[in-house]
Amino acid sequence: MILPIIMAGGSGTRLWPLSRQLFPKQFLSINGKRSMLQDTFFRINELDHLAPIIICNEEHRFVVAEQLRTEEINGCNIILEPVGRNTAPAIALAAFQAIKTNQDPLLLVLAADHVIKDKMAFNKAVESASILALKNYMVTFGIKPTSPETGYGYIKAGQSEGSGYFVEKFVEKPNSDTAKKYIASGNHYWNSGMFMFKASKFLNELEQYAPEIYNTCKQATDVLKVDADFIRINQQIFETCPSDSIDYAVMEKTSKAMVVPLDAQWSDIGSWSALWDIEAKDAHGNVCHGDVVNIDTNNSYIKAVDKLVTTIGLNDVVVVETKDAILVSKKSEVQKVKSIVEKLRQDG
Ligand code: GDD
Ligand code: MG
Repeated sequence: MILPIIMAGGSGTRLWPLSRQLFPKQFLSINGKRSMLQDTFFRINELDHLAPIIICNEEHRFVVAEQLRTEEINGCNIILEPVGRNTAPAIALAAFQAIKTNQDPLLLVLAADHVIKDKMAFNKAVESASILALKNYMVTFGIKPTSPETGYGYIKAGQSEGSGYFVEKFVEKPNSDTAKKYIASGNHYWNSGMFMFKASKFLNELEQYAPEIYNTCKQATDVLKVDADFIRINQQIFETCPSDSIDYAVMEKTSKAMVVPLDAQWSDIGSWSALWDIEAKDAHGNVCHGDVVNIDTNNSYIKAVDKLVTTIGLNDVVVVETKDAILVSKKSEVQKVKSIVEKLRQDG
């Protein structure tokens, strides 16, 4: 039986100033209706599955609980991390909890901040992946790449097997030249950041390739405190856990990786330009939200939250206005928002 694990503990700094430490992007709405977290639940509602586990930071517990309540999403288990240690420990905590309560379920690991427009195609890929995961493979979903992005993992697909391919090589976040080579080679996929494996298989691989993470997470989930809707782990132990992503800690190293292609209009809303890419544009190629008036402005993303925003004679820019901060950037440089956020943190 499939047990969805929803990772919702990221900070989403590249969508600053809308996404903040206390309200990262997975809790925001992209289309004005449900939040990305809520959408993640609706994505799986036609799959036959056990009660999902959400794993998030303790400081977001009320946002998460409230977002589930307003959409009447019941029966979830919410694991709280006292500190963020990236995705390998997050999935490990969920896997230990899953094994305790459900023997050895198939984990479907999802990020709470993706957009997937074609739900049917997604469900079909999950079906294919589950067949391979049941055979003890570590399955990831591969996206046909469209540009040499450096923010993604790259998968070199080998021989086919069932609806997937053996992974010849998995490289997390290569540099720009390497990414260009991979794109030119034609046989690489982007890692979607969603995975499927048996809970026991993931934990075996983790024990082999990242024993410290395995051991600390095992101990941290030994005795759990459950209060109201929340599952709390041992803070003192978890604080000592090394920080690493599943991609570096396991997927680059395992020999059991397989990739199932996913053609479902997937998008990791990693930046304002990624949002511009997927949203409907006006006749000038602009995406505008809120109170915006433009003259001679083209191919730009402009969002007004609190005030009227007007632009004249601009091309390929991002303008995001909020009550207490405004971002103005070239669209091509908007990945650097992350550095702005770091700078702001350093400056206090
Ligand atoms: N619970 C928890 N705890 N969740 C976390 C943590 C954590 O410490 N850190 C990140 N997450 C969540 C994020 O909220 C997001 O939903 C997901 O885990 C992935 O984390 P990101 O930080 O967004 O990863 P990434 O985008 O840099 O890279 C991953 O996704 C790419 C595709 O979007 C990798 O898997 C790449 O290989 C992949 O290409
Ligand atoms: Mg991401």
